[in-house]
Formats: sequence, C-alpha cells, structure tokens
Amino acid sequence: MCGIIGYVGEEDSVPIIVEGLKKLEYRGYDSAGLAVFGKNGYQVVKKKGRLSALEAAIKENPIGSHMGIGHTRWATHGEPSDVNSHPHLGSQNKIAIVHNGIIENFKQLKERLESKGIKFTSQTDSEVIAQLAEYYYDGDLIDMVIKVAGRLEGSYALGIMCLDDPDTLIAVKKDNPLIVGSSGHGNFIASDVPAILGHTNKVYYLNDSEIAVLKRGGVEFFTMDKEPLEKTIETITWSLDSAEKGGYPHFMLKEIMEQPKVIRDTIQSAIGNGENAKVLDGIDISKFNKIVITACGSAYNAGAVSKYVFERLCRFPSIEVSLASEFRYMDAVIDGKTLVILISQSGETADTIAAMREAKAKDAVTLAIVNVIGSTIAKESDHTIYTAAGPEIAVATTKAFSTQLVLLYLLAIRFAARLNRLPPEDEKNLLAELVSLPDKVTDILGHVDYIQKYASTCIGCKNIFFIGRNIDYAIALEGSLKLKEISYIHSEAYAGGELKHGPISLVEKGTLVVTISNCKQLYSKIFSNAEQVISRGAKVLFVGNACDAEVSEDISLVSLPDIHELFSPSLSVVALQLFSYYVAANKGLDIDKPRNLAKSVTVE
Ligand code: F6R
Repeated sequence: MCGIIGYVGEEDSVPIIVEGLKKLEYRGYDSAGLAVFGKNGYQVVKKKGRLSALEAAIKENPIGSHMGIGHTRWATHGEPSDVNSHPHLGSQNKIAIVHNGIIENFKQLKERLESKGIKFTSQTDSEVIAQLAEYYYDGDLIDMVIKVAGRLEGSYALGIMCLDDPDTLIAVKKDNPLIVGSSGHGNFIASDVPAILGHTNKVYYLNDSEIAVLKRGGVEFFTMDKEPLEKTIETITWSLDSAEKGGYPHFMLKEIMEQPKVIRDTIQSAIGNGENAKVLDGIDISKFNKIVITACGSAYNAGAVSKYVFERLCRFPSIEVSLASEFRYMDAVIDGKTLVILISQSGETADTIAAMREAKAKDAVTLAIVNVIGSTIAKESDHTIYTAAGPEIAVATTKAFSTQLVLLYLLAIRFAARLNRLPPEDEKNLLAELVSLPDKVTDILGHVDYIQKYASTCIGCKNIFFIGRNIDYAIALEGSLKLKEISYIHSEAYAGGELKHGPISLVEKGTLVVTISNCKQLYSKIFSNAEQVISRGAKVLFVGNACDAEVSEDISLVSLPDIHELFSPSLSVVALQLFSYYVAANKGLDIDKPRNLAKSVTVE
C-alpha cells in the first residue's frame, strides 16, 4: 500500500524523505516520488519502479529544501508510471499533495473540475485532491482542507504543501493511518513509525477528521470546525535496530528467528499482571452466546487454527471463523450477545476495519488482537490486546502470526476457565506447555539445515499441496499461503479427508505433498492419505511430531518437538515458514517484497 513521509525543519528534507521512503518499502509499491518546496516553484522527481531509480534521478539533478513530501505508490487507479506517481500538483502548480487511500467519487469530482476548464495530467484518483485543493484555496490553508475533506468520499491520508506558505505542511486523514513526529530539528508526517524512527520516537497519532499543521518550530492540531485541538504526544518504545535487518539477508529470516523472543513477550503480556491480562480481565465470556473470529490472509488462518482450540477447550455453543471481506457484506446474525474477535497485524486492513464497524453497528462487542499500537482497529475496538511482535517489515507475516496464535490460545484457556470448562489443574498444565513453547521454537530454529537443503530440491516444483487433518489442516492453510506468496509456486491446502473428493486428480509424478502430522489419533488416517498420493507418483514431506513413517525415496521427514496437540501449529508453522523462505531464497526472489503484494492492505 502507498506510504507517505513529509518533513519541515532545519535540515535538508531530501535525504530525510528518501530514507523514510526506504523504511516504507515493505508496504509494497511500484513507483515513488517526492516534491520539495522551492522559492520559484516545487522541485518534483517521480519514478516508476524501485527507489533506486528515484535516487539515481536525484543524483543526476540534485535538489534540496527545508520542506518536502514523498510517497511510495501502489497502483489502484492508473498504471504504474512516472506521471501517475505522487506527489500530484494542481494545474497552477500551487498545491502539492501525497495521498494514501482511494477516492471513491473521483470521477464525479474530476468531471466537474474539467467542466471548469481544469486540465488533469494523470489517470489517478489522487490528482483530483490536488486540483480540488487549488480550486478551493483562497489564501487560508485550513479552510481549504476543510472544504476538500467535505467533498471527498473514500479513504485518505494526505500530506499537503502550498507554494504561498514556505513553512507549513498540512496533514489530514480518514480511514488510513498517518502519524506526526516531532524532533529537535523539525517535524514529520509518516504512514508509520519506522519511516521516522531514525529521527524521533515522539509521535502524535492523528485521528480521522483531525488536521495537523506542521511548522519548523512546532505542530498544531485543529478540528474540522477549525477549533484548536490538544493532543498527547506518545513515546515509541521500538528501537531503530528492531526495524533494521540486523545482519540477516532478509527481514523475513530475521523475523522468523525473532519468534522465540516475541512469543515469550506476548505470553508474558497476557498472564499475571501483563497489560493484555488486564484488558482480558474486563471481558466476561459468560455474557456471550456466540463468538465470531474475523480477519484476512494469515490473520484469518490464525483464526482458523484457534477455532479448534476454542471448540476443544471452551465447548462454546457457536464459534465461527469468517473472512473479513465476506463478513462485512454477509449481514451476519450477530447482536449484543456476540463477541467478535478481530485479528490484524497492521490494524489498518480495510476489510477488517469494515468488519469491526459492521459488528459494532449490530451491537456486538469487539475484541481486537493487533500488533501496531495506535492503529485504527486498536483504537476503535471495544477491547484491544497487543501482540508483542515489534515492527514486522517483511510483507509475508511470520512473527506477528505466531504471536497472534499464542494470544488466541491464551484467550481460549482463559475463557474455558471462566466458563468452568477447564479444571484448574488442566489450566495450569496448559499454561506450562505454553511457557515451554519459545524453547521448542528455538530448538527448530537451531536445526534449519535439513529444511534448507530439502527446500533447495523443490525450486522446480509446479504445484505443492499441503494436507492435514483437524488442527493440522488449519495450519496447512498458512503453510500453503506462505509458500505461494513468496516463492510464486502454485500451492493449495486441503483437509486430508477431502483429497479423494477432487484434489487427488491433480496429483501426478513428482507432485510434492507436504503432510502435517501432529494429531496422534489421526496419524493412521493422514498416513493413508500420504500413501494414496505416493501411489500416484507424489513425494511426501511429513512435518510434525506424530509421524513414524520410514524415510525413503518418496518420504522425507521434518520431525518436530513434542507439545500439546492444540499448540502444535506454533511449531509446524515455523518449519513451514523456513521451508517457504528457503524455496524462495533458492529461487533468488525478492522475498521481503513479493510481487503484487502489500504489507498493509488499506484499500478494498
Ligand atoms: C500473509 C500476510 C497477509 C496478512 C493480511 C492481513 O503473509 O501477511 O495475508 O496476514 O493481509 O493483514 P493484517 O494482519 O495487517 O490485517
């Protein structure tokens, strides 16, 4: 998704913006640009492709200024091209803007402005904002912003400069994230914290319909009625180092390796006097008769795993898992007796935000599991608990997913105990198992050689299937998603029992079937599925702790440590992440920024 950075201050804005854009790369982009304030007009550089192209253009024609705005674009309206890249300027070159989001009524606005003789240069929805801003501007920037915001439908985070005002950078947002940072030498706007963390850890989180006016010496906030607004500055505790690669070739590998620590931190936060434990104390599960878990992508897969855990431990009458993109339109039967659990790393996924608002509109109580503090879901949900994953930069989620899983386990244990469905002794044992999880993950991470070597033999695969039964099936979904998104190998996950109902027709000589096996009672069933595919020419890679198949030409094995079956997905997923990572690494792919994908999907 698009990323925004802006600066006004004592220093040259160009290196600050370029470095900030690099920190925003992980969000996914296809072009980038910046505009800096100049006495005789803006200096604008925009380039399709990677940031290196933008840097090369700046090197060729150096620019500099105390104020500027920059943008990484992920195309929605109009192809990736230099001209469609941001910043966009109005036709009088007076106002420059950068935009993250989608303007749903841009066609109507564009037609109206064109009928007044205004000429557009790009195919984007965003240019309409710059043109509208110039159209309404009559010398007062805040009045202009209020008028523009009143006309826009859709979502936006905006950085705005005006040629009449050499010391003012304006920010405003609706349904897309934007933060304002403050340092000794100047002030910043950014889509998220890593973009400015090298300069400051003091930030304001901008809310919808708030206007920030940044000058060299300070920041002021206003409402849409032009009333001054007091906001509290917050201190970010993430270190810059945690947002850097730390010697690993890719963020994804670094983040995989961080899992023991972040799992441990997340467990701590939800037991004893931890911050999450306090929030959970405020939820009385006995008031509810239905739980709906909703999320997108991997976060949905974490929800799919947790359904087995909630079912098994809580014996709750109704537990549903729903894709947020479906839930938001399905007119779900929910009410004040429904607890809707939202899961999101970014807290900014458009479909999950919409699902949350739909749930709240129907009086359901919402509980969000979020990683990014201050994000929209974190702020708007009735209750919010945080995964302690720290900044996740690789587009493919790993450590955030693992921390979501442990919070979901802890939630299920806590609810089961509250409902008197889990005797204290069993609760104690389950918690002890969970506390042992980080060490077992460390154990897997200490033996990556086999997975790495095996993965190198799979780079020619055209199709890879993932199968499992019960909770192993749920984690197979995540294994398959991880592989396809970063290695570009087609892959599907199936419940073992479903194979013979269709998918087995796809199995041919050399097909790889990754078979997850941690459910001891179901081992003979999943083994027989493996035999069925082997007899049709497939190779099988068993992953799990419930497998005593003999390794052969057709059968390979990644053996995992023992753990309670309900927590086994947390071990399986680490092996599956490593497998995907090494397949993609052996193919020499851009692992941290897979094609067509964005880290934070802030548009529908
Ligand atoms: C896959 C992945 C995505 C996200 C999904 C939801 O590796 O990262 O599938 O899980 O886009 O994002 P969040 O969790 O930010 O709501």
